[in-house]
Amino acid sequence: MKVRRLNHDDYDAVVLLATELDAEERYMRFFTLHPAYIGEWALSLTAPAKGVVALGAFEDGDLIGVANYSELSRSGYAEIAVVVAHEQHHRGVGTALLRTLAEIAKDSGQHRFVADVLFENYAMRRVLSDAGWPISQHRDGSVLSLEVDLDTLTDNTPS
Ligand SMILES: CC(C)(COP(=O)(O)OP(=O)(O)OC[C@H]1O[C@@H](n2cnc3c(N)ncnc32)[C@H](O)[C@@H]1OP(=O)(O)O)[C@@H](O)C(=O)NCCC(=O)NCCS
Repeated sequence: MKVRRLNHDDYDAVVLLATELDAEERYMRFFTLHPAYIGEWALSLTAPAKGVVALGAFEDGDLIGVANYSELSRSGYAEIAVVVAHEQHHRGVGTALLRTLAEIAKDSGQHRFVADVLFENYAMRRVLSDAGWPISQHRDGSVLSLEVDLDTLTDNTPS
């Protein structure tokens, strides 16, 4: 598996990955079953604005997962999101993407990753907790707000 930054040429592959998700995966990532903005989303990953870093995981040339962070107005804070292609789960793809994303973020001066995930998104919660990342969390109804302290991540952290 190779992880690299996405670029313009990856647009179609990003759209394909999103359209091939099953209903639950799509709901967990986009909080809706029928996101109308897949094209815009793919563009935001493949032509990222300032303060956005978007990575793809590739195997044999195929895109099998994407992850991105977007810097927030609060200095040092960045919001993360990740989605792995249907039928590529539980192979370490999400973990690899988040690990690389964290390295880039730290090098870029970020101090905290934040993510709002649905409370029932046990897959995402487990990926983060299995990684051993220092996480604080706050529940607000069906949404769990997670915060990762990048400053205390060490090279030994099994991310
Ligand atoms: C959440 C999500 C990104 C996780 O991706 P993933 O690639 O399946 O995650 P990983 O494979 O790294 O880790 C998942 C499991 O595989 C295990 N794993 C990690 N590396 C592994 C490997 N090399 N071989 C086998 N299993 C492995 C992990 O320990 C973990 O096990 P667990 O579920 O029993 O705790 C994926 O489920 C997804 O795309 N969900 C829909 C979108 C979403 O919810 N995004 C989050 C909100 S933005």
